[in-house]
Parts: sequence; structure tokens; C-alpha cells
Amino acid sequence: MRPLRMALTKGRLEKSTVALLENTGMNCESLREKGRRLILPVSGGTENPAKLQVVLSKAPDVLTYVEHGVCELGVVGKDVIQEHGGRFFEILDLGFGKCGFALACPKGTDFFHGYQSKTVATKYPNVARRFFESKAMDVRIIKIEGSVELAPLLGLADGIVDIVETGATLRENGLEVVERISEISARLIVNPAAMKLRKREIEELAARLEQEGKREEAVT
Ligand code: PRP
Repeated sequence: MRPLRMALTKGRLEKSTVALLENTGMNCESLREKGRRLILPVSGGTENPAKLQVVLSKAPDVLTYVEHGVCELGVVGKDVIQEHGGRFFEILDLGFGKCGFALACPKGTDFFHGYQSKTVATKYPNVARRFFESKAMDVRIIKIEGSVELAPLLGLADGIVDIVETGATLRENGLEVVERISEISARLIVNPAAMKLRKREIEELAARLEQEGKREEAVT
């Protein structure tokens, strides 16, 4: 049987995942010197016989690969899970990639003031729609692919629903948080069939990741 395959979100979550895998004793040299390769072998030593194939992917593709079972496991942000949903199990909060969804608008403006319907720009239309539905507010949502902060600056929207990590992007563009929507961190997801067929291997790996994550948390 081939090693377990893990779809890993490229970019922000990649570094922390590699560090976590290394702390569990896996050799991630292939991931550190990956060049243009997209499927990378990772293995443990004598103390950790686990083997993995790591597949570097864009965040929404992590969900697709895990849903279709071509990757048994995935590491992806809760933001992507909340926006896209899907048929997989979310088995572990990895504790890194912490940030949150927030509604933000230009400093000094009152988003909730007045009866006129508002316009919001976002990369996460489903998250935004649910948020305003929960407030029984009729808000027009415009999907933007990147640098959502531009939309209110250009006069396209009254506010944005976006990820806030340090808050620097908002600050430097004259925006401020109106309301925090939900908290986000990296999650380990599993294909449901794989969870049955390769339960022992998956649980062993998840336990190692969880244990190491807790140890790191205690140190920092
Ligand atoms: C995210 C988000 C904000 C920024 C927030 O964008 O959309 O723009 O990070 O981070 P901060 O609170 O630490 O400033 P990202 O950098 O992921 O780029 P993207 O627009 O290409 O998605």
C-alpha cells in the first residue's frame, strides 16, 4: 500500500506544518528543497516509521483532493472550510495559522447606521452571507479575489469581510474592525472512507501531531 497522502495548503500554513512534522521526527528535507516538485516524500526514522507523501496545493484544492479520496489527509485553514464546506472529517485543530474573520470598514464610518442597504466586498461570500443573514440584514455582496481592502478605498463597498491576523493591513489602509465574526486556525481533515480503511495509521499520525502541537504550545 502506498504511504498516506497529505494535501498541504501552500504558503502561510506550509512552513508551520513542515516545522510540526519535523518536530514529530519526520524528515522534511524534500519539502524544504522542493524546487518545482509538487508531490514530496516525507519519512520518519527508526523511532517513527511513518511515511507520507505531501501534495502541495492551493487551499480549496486541498478540500477537493480529500473529498475525492486521492489524498487521505489535508491541512487547510478553517476559513476555507467555512467558505466551501465539503464531505470530510475535521479531526484536529493544529493550533497554528491563527487569525479571524471580521467585518471592517473605513475608520470613522458607522457601518450599521441608517436604513440604506450596504455593500460588502469579500473573498468569502458564503461566510459574509451567513453573517449578515444571522443579523437579518440585507447586504449586497461583491466577490473580490485579492486585496479586498481596496474595495472601500475605491468606493466600491461600504465595508469588507476578510481575514484579520495582525491588523496591519487594515490599519495601513485606514480601515478598522467593526465586528469579529469567528476565529480561524489550521485544521487536519480526513477523507471519510480513509478514516475507516486506514484508521490506525491516521490516528497514529494525528496523535503525534496533537502531542507535538501541545508540547510546542506549552513551551511558547
Ligand atoms: C490576508 C487578508 C488580509 C491580510 C490580513 O491576505 O486578506 O489582506 O492577510 O493580515 P494582517 O491582519 O496580518 O494584515 P493575504 O496576505 O493572505 O493575501 P491575499 O489577499 O492574496 O489572500
